[in-house]
This record gives sequence, C-alpha cells and structure tokens, in this order.
Amino acid sequence: MKYYDMHEDVYKQLAAKDKISWDGQTDPKELFNHEINQAIGEKLPEFFNSYEGLCAVDLGTGTGTCALNLAKLGFKVRGFDLSETAIGLAKENAKALGVEASFEVSDITKIVTTDKVDLVVDSSLLHCLVYKEDRNNFFRVAHDLLKDEGLLFLHTMIEAKDMSEMLDRDYLVYEDHILYSTGPDRWEMDWQEVQGKRVFPHRWITTIDLLTEEVRRAGFKIVHSKLEPQERSTGTLCAWLKKI
Ligand SMILES: C[S@@+](CC[C@H](N)C(=O)[O-])C[C@H]1O[C@@H](n2cnc3c(N)ncnc32)[C@H](O)[C@@H]1O
Repeated sequence: MKYYDMHEDVYKQLAAKDKISWDGQTDPKELFNHEINQAIGEKLPEFFNSYEGLCAVDLGTGTGTCALNLAKLGFKVRGFDLSETAIGLAKENAKALGVEASFEVSDITKIVTTDKVDLVVDSSLLHCLVYKEDRNNFFRVAHDLLKDEGLLFLHTMIEAKDMSEMLDRDYLVYEDHILYSTGPDRWEMDWQEVQGKRVFPHRWITTIDLLTEEVRRAGFKIVHSKLEPQERSTGTLCAWLKKI
C-alpha cells in the first residue's frame, strides 16, 4: 500500500457511518458551502466573464466537493480521485444534487492527459503528496491539462511558526516539512521510524517560499494568493497560478 492509499480506508469508514464527504458531512447540499468553494468563488469571477462552455478538472475530488460546485456554476467538469469509495459517493452526490459531472478513479500521479481545460483545481490533494517525484507528477499533469491561458487553483497546507497545537496530537510527528501519522496497524504501509514512533508520511507542509520555488520549477507563477493562518497549527494557502 502506497502512503496515500490510506484515503480509501478512511472513505470506507465514513461511508459506513453515512457520511458523504471527507469532512464528514451528511447532506450533499452542504458541499456547496465548503471553504474551498468559498475561496474559489471569491476570485473566480475576476478571472472569467462567464463559465458556460468552460472545462475544469478537479484533482483529488473525493466525493465531488469542488467538482459539483463548479458544475453547478456552469463548468463541464471531470473529477479524479484514487478512492473508489469516494468516487462512488461523488456519483451519488451528483444524482442527489441534480448536477452533472464525470468522475473517474485514477491515481493523479499517473494520469495520461487528453483534452485541455480552462481550470484545474487542487482540492487539498497536493499536500497529500509527500515525495518530490509524486509532487512533480502532480504539477506535470496540471501543466499538461491546462490551456495556455488556463488557471491552476491550489488549496494547500502551510507551515505555521508555532505548530504546537497540531503536534499535541500524539499520533502525529513533524520533521522536515513532512507530517507523519502513526495510523492503524492493519495498514500495510512502508512503515518508518521517526522520533521513536512507527509512522508513515501523511502530509507535506510547505512554506510560501518553498511553494513559490516549486511552482516556478514546474513552469507556473502565482498570480494571486491568500493565506488563512492559524495560531498554533498549519494554515491554508489558496493560490491561483498561471503557466509561465
Ligand atoms: C484531504 S482529501 C480532500 C477531498 C475533497 N477534495 C474534499 O475537499 O472533500 C484529499 C483527497 O485526495 C485524494 N488523493 C490522495 N492522493 C491521491 C492520488 N495520488 N491520486 C488521486 N487522488 C488522491 C484522496 O483520496 C482524497 O480524496
């Protein structure tokens, strides 16, 4: 099991409790109010005059949180996620909401891209990719997918000066920008030992400087960003990128 395959197991547990999203919501209508959709909605009208006929891809769509909101706005949307359970829930959420979008099970680091789109959304997937090779693949896929004038939106975790609140949780370990988790024993992970605990890599926590350099190397520039800091835990960065 690769480190990011754990998401499938989490979705199975959520589905068993009648939850319809990663954040544990129970009513599909609540998906539209998700903070990612609010962040996208704040800036999107400044980039596009109208959404009719535009195409978008949601990478790490989960149960369709962003994809369904973009489809409601008028985009033709494809959502990709590696979790079969999540994609099943995304299709059910689409039906329940009467919104059309296409959903596919796929490992983003291995997507072979076809049609070019106007908007690519990272709906909290990028911070799930810890290793350089996987992150490079994410940016390669996003770059290949986008039209020259297209936009890439990132919603990603940012390191805080003080991470004490997050690290109070005894199942987490933080070292060199990697947030490790102890996870349940049943996961057949490539377990590592960090700070005396048996862990697997869970999230990549970036800084603005690291991300700026990473996107530049990948052929992008940040055209707008907004940081939602937290006192003693990771903050969230919403960033809009264009191809250089
Ligand atoms: C933090 S969850 C966010 C889910 C959803 N976008 C939302 O906002 O509710 C991250 C998502 O990324 C997906 N994911 C992680 N690694 C992936 C990969 N390599 N390829 C495709 N999806 C991946 C997970 O299955 C999970 O659905």
